[in-house]
Amino acid sequence: MKDSPKHEIVLEGRDIRKSYILPRTVIPVLRGACIAIARGEIIAVLGKSGAGKTTLLHILGGLEKPDSGEVLVNARSFYALHGKDRAHIRAREIGFIFQSYHLLPEMDVLENVMLAGMAAAGWTTRRSRIESRASALLDAVGLKDRTTHRPLELSGGEQQRVAIARALVNNPALILADEPTGNLDAATGAMVLQLLIGISRKEGRSLLMVTHNESAASLCDRVLVLQDGVLAERHFSLPPR
Ligand SMILES: Nc1ncnc2c1ncn2[C@@H]1O[C@H](COP(=O)(O)OP(=O)(O)OP(=O)(O)O)[C@@H](O)[C@H]1O
Ligand SMILES: [Mg+2]
Repeated sequence: MKDSPKHEIVLEGRDIRKSYILPRTVIPVLRGACIAIARGEIIAVLGKSGAGKTTLLHILGGLEKPDSGEVLVNARSFYALHGKDRAHIRAREIGFIFQSYHLLPEMDVLENVMLAGMAAAGWTTRRSRIESRASALLDAVGLKDRTTHRPLELSGGEQQRVAIARALVNNPALILADEPTGNLDAATGAMVLQLLIGISRKEGRSLLMVTHNESAASLCDRVLVLQDGVLAERHFSLPPR
């Protein structure tokens, strides 16, 4: 982050509001959340269960329209675009990592990663270019020897590493990760988070990550807390001497 020129903003959320309307009640989830993510910045988002973290990530990632407020990707209003154009930008600019991996079970590891690349670049793109990027990423996440395996033949930590490679295959400016280690044991989770943060830093990608893991949060540039529908910076106070 500190080396990034001019602190260019890759994604901004302005005064995001979102309620869910149920038959007998209205649930106000986001009540004016604001965020600006600089190129190369790594941010952790904390918040209680039900605070609206997943809702926020979906809205920022172009998957769910807010009731009001604006999401700007590279200074363009995301939801002012037609759905097709938004999907195109999403595929190229944003990588998603979910708690439950979301890999395609009938495809092998390499195909899972390549599919995201082909979908974004166009089906007529040269396969070899995407294949070499996919292979390099699978090597970087330590799965070089598992490329022909199906996802269900892998452990949870290995599956999430495939999902990390998939999220990175299009060289997105931003990665959105929703509790990426929620299904992993503590040691595996810590390893996966360190890997995700390490690759993002090395490649200069921005990362917005929902996590409850304090040691991972301590590796981030900023820690935000989502509470009462708004995001606030968490500042560490030094212990008394
Ligand atoms: N599609 C929906 N319809 C109605 N209510 C919803 C919907 N999606 C989420 N909610 C409600 O919005 C609130 C925020 O949900 P969200 O999933 O964003 O929370 P979260 O912070 O990600 O929680 P967790 O830590 O448990 O994943 C919750 O009260 C949830 O019940
Ligand atoms: Mg959630």
